[in-house]
Amino acid sequence: MVVRSSTLRLATFSSIITLCFCATPARADGGAGGTGGAEGGTTSTGGTGGAATSGGGTATGGQSSSGGMPGAAGASANLLKSATFDGTDVPGDWWKYAADSTDNPADITLAISNGQLCGTMTAGGKNVWDVIIGQSGLSLMPNQYYHISFDVTADAPRTIKFKSGLGDAPYTDYFIESVPVTATPLTATPQKVEYTYLNLRTDANAQFQFQIGKTPGTVCVDNIVLEPVATPATPPYTTPAMSGHAFKDYKSFIKFGTAVDTPIFLSNPKHNSIVAGEFAMITPANSMKMNIIQATFNKFDFTDTDALSDWAQKNGIEFRGHPLVWHTQAPDWLTAATQPVTDTQTATDLAWTRDAMVAVMYAHIDALMGRYKGKFPYWDVVNEAIDVSTADGFRATMWHDRIGADFMDLAFTHARAADPAAKLFYNDYNIEQKGDAKADKVFEVIKSMKDRGIPIDGVGLQGHYFVTPTGDSSTGYPDMQAIRDNIARYKEIGVDVQITECDFRIGKPLDDTKTQLQNKFYREILQACVESQNCSHFTLWGLSDLDSWVPSTFADYDYAHVWDKDLKPKSAYGALSEVLAKYNTDGSKPGGAGGAGGAGGAGTAAGAPGVAPTPSGSSSSGGCALAPRSTSSAPWLLSALAMLGALVTRRRSKRES
Ligand code: XIL
Repeated sequence: MVVRSSTLRLATFSSIITLCFCATPARADGGAGGTGGAEGGTTSTGGTGGAATSGGGTATGGQSSSGGMPGAAGASANLLKSATFDGTDVPGDWWKYAADSTDNPADITLAISNGQLCGTMTAGGKNVWDVIIGQSGLSLMPNQYYHISFDVTADAPRTIKFKSGLGDAPYTDYFIESVPVTATPLTATPQKVEYTYLNLRTDANAQFQFQIGKTPGTVCVDNIVLEPVATPATPPYTTPAMSGHAFKDYKSFIKFGTAVDTPIFLSNPKHNSIVAGEFAMITPANSMKMNIIQATFNKFDFTDTDALSDWAQKNGIEFRGHPLVWHTQAPDWLTAATQPVTDTQTATDLAWTRDAMVAVMYAHIDALMGRYKGKFPYWDVVNEAIDVSTADGFRATMWHDRIGADFMDLAFTHARAADPAAKLFYNDYNIEQKGDAKADKVFEVIKSMKDRGIPIDGVGLQGHYFVTPTGDSSTGYPDMQAIRDNIARYKEIGVDVQITECDFRIGKPLDDTKTQLQNKFYREILQACVESQNCSHFTLWGLSDLDSWVPSTFADYDYAHVWDKDLKPKSAYGALSEVLAKYNTDGSKPGGAGGAGGAGGAGTAAGAPGVAPTPSGSSSSGGCALAPRSTSSAPWLLSALAMLGALVTRRRSKRES
């Protein structure tokens, strides 16, 4: 142990939180290996793992079996066997791992230096998880909060990751957090890092890792303590809205939602308190992705989704099931060229047949919708399946290619049978604006499904937009009139619309002009939804810049959300709140000047009444009970200006999700 006056760096939950499953075993060097996080965004790949071989570490400190432990602290509570490095030899319970493939050679030596445990990489890896220092055999308790603290120095500034996770394949990450190390050189005053996180699973063989390796060099750690702690208290919440009304107060006509991700969501009490205080709905950002919920063929792990769903239920919050059939974040057994072994099939080398793929799709739908039957009112049954550059307009995915273009019909029909009360959605990006080729194709596909009696209730317009680093918004800012027209045409065919993944990412650096543009975006897109009769749900894709999916998915972008990295509301919050403040919470307008358009819709599935001064010619799928109303005392002037604006600014843009 090096004792110096350490700089306290209280690490909170940073922006790159990804639940990662890494099913590819790799060669372990001197013990257990580890896993990595998917840094590249929407893929299921993410590093390698090694077999856990060292064992022994058992829990001490007397954790309670659930629900938190009375503030255990000090050495006796530390789950790590040796952590202060006072001797000259590397303690035997620490292992090192370096990915050792031909295209990606990595190497590491471990040594005690200056009273610290130092890993020196003579060859760095391709990813941060390619070189690891860790301990295995830790016994973790379910529903237990843990506190980790450690000191770290490095030869040069670099980002490492701390990870707590399952020691056996599929190498589930329970908690993984990026740590920018700024304490350099190795002899500098160490940086103290600490987190508190909730562990959901029982595990007698959990791993604890520092993933250090991308660039050759040295990282040293010291004074490492991993201990169970009491459940942190949830702070009280008061909405910052000028109106005094939180987003959720308007749920009779617009249900406001946010995507949430374990473990940050359940681990960070302040985050939870904001979500419970402001939102009427949540969508799991990752926990229902197939690589997590069915990482192993026919074995379903509902741990994370159950935790989110229980939390939602306790807080009176609705849940969007997302997604059932998607090609991304798929498990390795599904992306493999051959079918998994089933009870009736013994060969392991059979290429996928249509029947086998349909069986997998039905089993997945049955398992998920069955478990949450009657609990989740909305489901994204098929996600991101259209690609206008292909011959038939469908994206070439394993679902489409192995089953055929009717996979969507089959999925929706099966989903209706699995939970007849649930509202079934098709969800996609770049489909918000009428006139965009992809939006028009999706409309055509959904209209055809309706015409043919395939059960589909709604379309999810994801709503990911952006301004580039140079400030260019020409392809990243919506044509709001085209969005309104798009929503309106769905009403004509009896299909509800939800904005399902709204965010506006900013090309770095952040400046005032970009911030203003972001505010304008949030204000206008919400207004468009609120004024549309069949748009009754509006979900933000993540609460804050602290736990954002953006920086790890889009290099050079950040600041996409409505709360900042300190979980403080941004001016975008005010922009959204101002739109809502034009209405009474029942959707009418103060002074009786007419109200919001989109009440009811799919929301009626969960019993939300349409509020309505006027009867509707509503969608057949749930009943929108409000007629559109003008928002001004001089509507003709506004309309004329809007038309002029639309002519000037109308763009057909290509965006990425
Ligand atoms: C994103 C998550 O937010 C990330 O954490 C993950 O790394 C990749 O997926 N469209 C979708 C969402 O339908 O599920 C995606 O979520 C964002 C794009």
